[in-house]
Amino acid sequence: MNVRDLEKLIKGRRSVRRWKKNEVSDELLTKAVELATWAPNGGNYQGWHFIVVKRKEMIEKIADAVQSVSDKIASWPEATPWQEDVNRYQKNASFFRNAPVCIGVLSGAYQSPMDKVLVARESFDPEAREILEFRRSAPTGLQSGAAAVTTMLLVFHQMGLGAVWMVSPIQAKKEIENLLKSPPNMNLICLIAVGYPDESPQKDRKPVDEVLEFVR
Ligand SMILES: Cc1cc2nc3c(=O)[nH]c(=O)nc-3n(C[C@H](O)[C@H](O)[C@H](O)COP(=O)(O)O)c2cc1C
Repeated sequence: MNVRDLEKLIKGRRSVRRWKKNEVSDELLTKAVELATWAPNGGNYQGWHFIVVKRKEMIEKIADAVQSVSDKIASWPEATPWQEDVNRYQKNASFFRNAPVCIGVLSGAYQSPMDKVLVARESFDPEAREILEFRRSAPTGLQSGAAAVTTMLLVFHQMGLGAVWMVSPIQAKKEIENLLKSPPNMNLICLIAVGYPDESPQKDRKPVDEVLEFVR
C-alpha cells in the first residue's frame, strides 16, 4: 500500500450511525480486534479487553441504561440554561440500539516503573505528587485503548463496515460493566457500534495549517 492508498483509507472513514440489518461475521470481528491489538500501547503491556456483543437484547439493555441516565440528566433543573442542546443529546443518546454489533472496550490501569516510584513517595513529597498528577493527566491505559480503537475503526472501514466510537455511554458505566460482566480491575472506556453502513455521512477537517506548528 502506498501513502496515497493509505490517505484514501484514512480520509474515507466516517462515523456511521445507521446500519443495515445484515449480520457481521465473527471472522471479521475477530480479525478487526486482532489487528487493533497491534496498535502502539504503553510498555507493550496490552492491558486491554474487548467484549463483542451480538445479542440484540443485550445491546438494547445497554441502550436503555444509557437512555435512562440521559433522561435523568435532562430532567435536572441545572439543565435549564442549555435545555435545547441537552434535549437534543437526550433524544440521540441511545441511537446505537439498532446496531448489529456493539463492542465494549476496556482498559486496565498501567503502572510504569516510574509510576511505582512516584506512588511510593506521593504521600510525603509534594514534588513527586505533582509529577504523578502530570502523568495521571495523560493516562497510558486510556491512550493505548484509544490507539486500538482508531486502528479498529480503520480496519472496519477497509472491510466495508461502518462504525462509531462512543464515549457518551460512559454515563451508564456501572450498569454497562455489570451487563458485560467486565473483568475485575478493568475500566470501560468506550463502546464501538458497528455494522454494514446504511448512510454515507460527510465530514470535513480544519486545514492542517490551522493546527500544525513547526519548531525549527
Ligand atoms: C473520543 C471520542 C468520543 C466520541 N464519542 C461519541 C459519542 O459518544 N457519540 C457519537 O455519536 N459519536 C462519538 N464520537 C464520534 C465523533 O463524533 C466523530 O468522530 C467526529 O464527529 C468526526 O466525525 P468522523 O468520525 O465521521 O470523521 C466520538 C469520537 C471520539 C474520538
